[in-house]
Amino acid sequence: MEADSKLNDSHALQSICYKRGSLRLLDQRKLPLETVYLDIRNASDGWFAIRDMVVRGAPAIAIAAALSLAVEAFNLEAFHGTPNDAASFLIQKLEYLVSSRPTAVNLSDAATKLKEVIAKAASTSPEAKAVFQAYIEAAEIMLEEDVASNKGIGSYGASCFQSHQLKDETKMSILTHCNTGSLATAGYGTALGVIRSLHAQGLLERAYCTETRPFNQGSRLTAFELVHDKIPATLVADSAAAALMKAGRVQGVVVGADRVAANGDTANKIGTYSLALCAKYHGIPFYVAAPLTSIDLALPSGDDIVIEERSPKELLNARGGLGEQVAASGISVWNPAFDVTPANLIAGIITEKGVITKTRDDAFDMKEFVQKVTTP
Ligand code: MRU
Repeated sequence: MEADSKLNDSHALQSICYKRGSLRLLDQRKLPLETVYLDIRNASDGWFAIRDMVVRGAPAIAIAAALSLAVEAFNLEAFHGTPNDAASFLIQKLEYLVSSRPTAVNLSDAATKLKEVIAKAASTSPEAKAVFQAYIEAAEIMLEEDVASNKGIGSYGASCFQSHQLKDETKMSILTHCNTGSLATAGYGTALGVIRSLHAQGLLERAYCTETRPFNQGSRLTAFELVHDKIPATLVADSAAAALMKAGRVQGVVVGADRVAANGDTANKIGTYSLALCAKYHGIPFYVAAPLTSIDLALPSGDDIVIEERSPKELLNARGGLGEQVAASGISVWNPAFDVTPANLIAGIITEKGVITKTRDDAFDMKEFVQKVTTP
């Protein structure tokens, strides 16, 4: 990975800058203080950029991984092999990319879909070049589709929150957690996309964003996006959420997802579960906003979701591990990056194809919904 020159302000919220043969990722570790793009030349650069949090957020991770390999494939000087050799080359690199972070299903979902494209191209093309070409085109489509899908989530989410409003209220305030905006996706965002959409329709009084300790995705990234878009917004410490709800200052909560199991249990940034418990206690609707690519029908419940544990440094040192040590030396640390919110605390799951509501008291039927919206 090579650091590149600063780009101008109009690119400030674009985390993924891609044109065929070239990929630059906005280094989110440096935001909001510096806007630096890193050149990603191959799958190995992509793997480190994901593991080291240059790029983060479930959809953005998947797209960055796919495109890092697209860039490597495009720039290969010579490949002396059969279409099957090309397929093995790409599949091996995809498997390596999937190993970068375990919790977000979008990454393995993208890899599975890309492997199908590769297998099909290898069985029908006479040359290795055509397999690489098919891969590159499929990866590029993922980038394009993500923004459209987020706009769909935004619009379904805004209507959904509107349905909770009392007749004499015109606007509502919404709390969100972590960063689910343009920086975490190809653009617009999922949960933050819902907030953007409410604001665009004149329905948002104020967005509240949590700091999201320890990596501070809320105070560094979500706050940055909200200020950039001139959306009325207030930052709160994670520990202030219950008091915020008790004070009646929020009428809804919307968060993103890294993996939604078949019953609706949802893995998302650590702290999401506490927010859902607080929201339930205060009678505030708690929604998850996520594309269909975040749904993992292979897992019956959230019990089997692998939760990534990250370096103790993120807690011991300032700025989520990037600054100087601030905690007492010698203390042991538990640093899970995500937690699982049980379906019974979730009012609905907002997707680009509509809002999934519960069929039973305690669970969603994700499979039925996915089949309904994906059957031609
Ligand atoms: O560790 P991160 O920053 O990758 O975690 C991100 C989240 O938990 C997001 O809420 C989730 O990936 C959805 S992003 C649209």
